[in-house]
Amino acid sequence: MNKIYIIANWKMNPLTLAEAKRNFEIIKKGIRNIKNVKAVICSPFVFLGALRPSEVLSVGGQDCFWQDKGAFTGEVSPRQLKNLGVEYVILGHSERRRYLAETDEMILKKTEAALSVGIKPIVCVEKSSQLKGFSKNIIVAYEPVFAIGTGKPCTVEKAKSVRKKIKQQSVLYGGSVNSSNAYGYIREAGFQGLLVGSASLDPNEFVRIVREVDFSSKT
Ligand code: PGA
Repeated sequence: MNKIYIIANWKMNPLTLAEAKRNFEIIKKGIRNIKNVKAVICSPFVFLGALRPSEVLSVGGQDCFWQDKGAFTGEVSPRQLKNLGVEYVILGHSERRRYLAETDEMILKKTEAALSVGIKPIVCVEKSSQLKGFSKNIIVAYEPVFAIGTGKPCTVEKAKSVRKKIKQQSVLYGGSVNSSNAYGYIREAGFQGLLVGSASLDPNEFVRIVREVDFSSKT
């Protein structure tokens, strides 16, 4: 059986390296005996090199550029991430599309660059049509903007109808996920995992989400 992905998107949090390490260690300890879940912490770049992954807890970035190296001030390449031991990268998050004007074309280039060095891209979309031209080997995250950070999650029925239109095998749901609603998206809507923002900033709540999904998926 494929493992269920539970991916934390820490966004631009926390403020210090000490807090990032502390939260990461709480999560690592809290989920050390899980069997059915692959957990990933997508942290700001500045903390990535200092987080120590385990067998069940990996690290990921929240963006990358489409070239390996060169004169691209401020950018971070997938090859640099790979060389740091990073296994995953979130691409095309709606906040980057909105505040940084990222387009589907840019996200496609970033996705191909990540795949070419063996990093698994987690491509965020609101509609299945945004996946035109994308490889089948990516992880997709369906994240309706109205549900992101609002405490108003998408209904399981609506999420299920979008899930059905996406051809990739691994599709995550994201948007106001917490430990009470997490498993419904997997059991009832057929998602292969979850992308968790706000609730992942409380390490104990993130542990609850992972443990709940791990436990429920046993049966
Ligand atoms: P949220 O964020 O869980 O706070 O809604 C999800 C995301 O933006 O990936």
